[in-house]
This record gives sequence, C-alpha cells and structure tokens, in this order.
Amino acid sequence: MYTELIAKIKTLKQEKDALILAHNYQAVEIQDLADYRGDSLQLSILAAELKAPTIVFCGVKFMAETAAILNPTSDILLPAVDAGCPMADMIDANQLKKFKKKYPGSPVVCYVNSSVEVKAESDICCTSSNAVKVMQSLPEDLPILFVPDKNLGSWAAKQAGRKVITWDGYCPVHQWGFYEQHVFDIREKYPDYTLLAHPECDPDIIQHADLVLSTGGMMNWMLTGDNVIIATENGFTKYLQHLYPEKNIVSLSAQANCKNMKRTTLEHVYEALLKHQYLIKVDPAIAEGAKKSISRMLELS
Ligand code: 13P
Ligand code: SF4
Repeated sequence: MYTELIAKIKTLKQEKDALILAHNYQAVEIQDLADYRGDSLQLSILAAELKAPTIVFCGVKFMAETAAILNPTSDILLPAVDAGCPMADMIDANQLKKFKKKYPGSPVVCYVNSSVEVKAESDICCTSSNAVKVMQSLPEDLPILFVPDKNLGSWAAKQAGRKVITWDGYCPVHQWGFYEQHVFDIREKYPDYTLLAHPECDPDIIQHADLVLSTGGMMNWMLTGDNVIIATENGFTKYLQHLYPEKNIVSLSAQANCKNMKRTTLEHVYEALLKHQYLIKVDPAIAEGAKKSISRMLELS
C-alpha cells in the first residue's frame, strides 16, 4: 500500500547517504523501513557510533536530542516536529534545582525521558534497561534522587537495594493504560502465558509481572519465548505480532497507545529527507552538561 512512497524514501535516503533509526514503539511500516531499531539505550549507543551525514530519528524529541548530543557531526532529523514526551515535560531544570536543594549531596539520576536541561542538572542518566546498574554504581550513603519517572525510580531502587526519593512524574500511557483488573481478566483467559511488563508501569501491574524489562529486553526474550502478555505501549506489541505471526502475543490492554510515538508517518520521513527537516539543535553550553550525564551512563553499559 505504501510501495511508491517507500521507493521514493529509499531513493532519497541513498542520495543523501542517510540512515533511519526507529524506536521499538514506532508504527510497523516505519520500523520495517528503518536501518536500525531498538530501545532507548540501544538507539543512544547507535547514535553515538554511526557515521552518516544525516540520521533520521523516528521517535520522540528527547531521543533525537540525545542522538544530537552524542553525535555532533551528523545532522539529526526528527520527522514529526511535535513528537514530544509528556513524562519528559513533567520536570524542568528549575524544579530539579529546587528538588536538589532539599536533599543536598544526594546523587541525581535522570531517566533519559527528560529534557536536555534536566540532563545537564543531573549526575547520571539512565534508561529502562540500565536503571538498576546505574543506581548500583552510586555511593550508598545518601538516598538517590530520581526524576522524572516515579515508577521506574521506585522499581529500580528496590532491585538495586537503594534508598530513593522520586519525582512525581510518570508516563501517562503506562500509568493510565493498564489497570490491575486487566491483569486479573487476562490471566483468567491465558493462565499459562508469561507477563512481561515495562518498568514505567504502576507497581499495581509490576507486582504481577513475571519479568520486568525494557522494550529491548522484551525483544530479546521473544527470540526464544512464546505465549506472552505484553504490558507496554501497543505499537510494540503490534510490531512483535508482525515479526512473529506464528507466536501467541497479546497486549495487556488495548488502551496503551502513545500518540507521540505514532505522530511519525512515512510521509513525514519522506518530507524529512526531502527538506532536511526538522534539524535538532541543542545549545552547546547545555549539551556539554547533558553529555556528561549521558556518557557516564554509557560507560556503564
Ligand atoms: P525503552 O524502549 O528504552 O524501554 O523505553 C520506553 C519508552 O518509553 C520510550 O519512550
Ligand atoms: Fe513518553 Fe510514555 Fe510515550 Fe514513552 S510511551 S514517549 S514515556 S509518553
């Protein structure tokens, strides 16, 4: 159905010597088109390593900004200019400064789902796949301040055996997309299935999960696994069903849809390549601070 448009994108991509990266939540047709797919950590590592004059980043703004910080020699394009992340907007640099003042000396961990300014105010960044490791790398004497995701922060601290004070942020998709009743209902229907939950889910859901994994972790699990209930954004479940039509893969709920992740269409990717838009620019002074917290994380990964 998209054959003509996909052919045009491929021609332009070759002409511009561009690469396309897509987050695991992107629509199936975008992921199929991408040169690389992955979770936030995998995409950050790739963005730092890839050598291409242009990288089209199909995801949301904070991801493209992270790529731009890690790879200043490539032009990073975000095809859908309004693809943001409501969780990342739940704390700004001034709020973080005040939070830090309340707990002097405490190390600050920011989830990669945050603004560049917040990253620059933090000691170290993390993603859902390395939050536990990041916390374990910090001194034990003072509680860790974790922003913005209260769910990831409290789950990771429990795993790491650390004290944490979390900001009251959350991902609306994971927070409001799943209810405990969904778990009871689906367990009744599929009693032998494995429940994989993303750590952005509320503890009400996490307590029932067989495994708590990032999207990259879930992707690895699927290499050998089957009969699975997925508790994360539905674009990911759809992509898994597309990759493994012979496997039994169901979503915990049909309500977990991230409209920001779905803003990117093939038309946007085409326009991005054609018009070289939307070029991500990060203030160099702030980028320097943010890079420190991202690089500290990457050194551990
Ligand atoms: P991961 O793909 O890193 O697990 O993150 C999920 C997410 O919410 C990205 O916005
Ligand atoms: Fe942000 Fe949640 Fe969408 Fe991820 S799924 S981009 S955390 S709103």
